[in-house]
Amino acid sequence: MSAPLALEFVQSAAQIDQLPPTRAEVAVIGRSNVGKSSLLNALANRRNLAKVSGKPGRTQLLNCFAVDGGTVMDLPGYGYASTASKSMRSDWRRRMERYLLEREGLVLTLLLIDGEVGPTRLDVEMLSWLHGNDVPIQVVATKHDKVKSAKRDKRKKELAEGCGVLPSGVLWVSAERNVGLDRLRARIREALEQA
Ligand code: GTP
Ligand code: MG
Repeated sequence: MSAPLALEFVQSAAQIDQLPPTRAEVAVIGRSNVGKSSLLNALANRRNLAKVSGKPGRTQLLNCFAVDGGTVMDLPGYGYASTASKSMRSDWRRRMERYLLEREGLVLTLLLIDGEVGPTRLDVEMLSWLHGNDVPIQVVATKHDKVKSAKRDKRKKELAEGCGVLPSGVLWVSAERNVGLDRLRARIREALEQA
């Protein structure tokens, strides 16, 4: 196992102008419940660094963590549509778009896709928005442990196809079982170092 990422919580903010300046930042984005906060904990090998919950919409703020001379951002998820009002959703969209377009130092966005569920309509919309705005992304599939090993190759192919990338362009991880974390740590370190 590679060394865990030495993530340290810096601060939460409601808006981008309240965030501390950063030299280089990697953002973690994806629908609610996809496993963003769990993944950060797993990458750091810490239990309660980022708050995890079975209830979607747990992470409401932009949560900033320091690491290796840069920062990692845990962002609120999208798609808990059944509980959120329309105005909350458009507020979320404005905040996210502003963050992704205006954040100085943002070098890479990890787009998390649920490996058990595959890309949803909102994931595909997000992907196309990110592409259209030239936001550099890495597709990360989550919950590797939830798919039976016999089905994984096929699932990965379908997931990649649904996202418009090659299967080799998808990192599949499990926060629960520590799968794929070394490769993802290396990807994050590389992005922060090259900036
Ligand atoms: P929001 O903050 O609401 O946007 O959600 P999130 O994307 O941060 O998801 P979170 O990390 O809170 O995890 C949501 C649920 O998925 C929790 O019940 C986790 O235990 C579960 N989960 C996350 N990662 C994994 C995984 O690798 N394997 C399994 N089996 N469950 C996972
Ligand atoms: Mg979260």
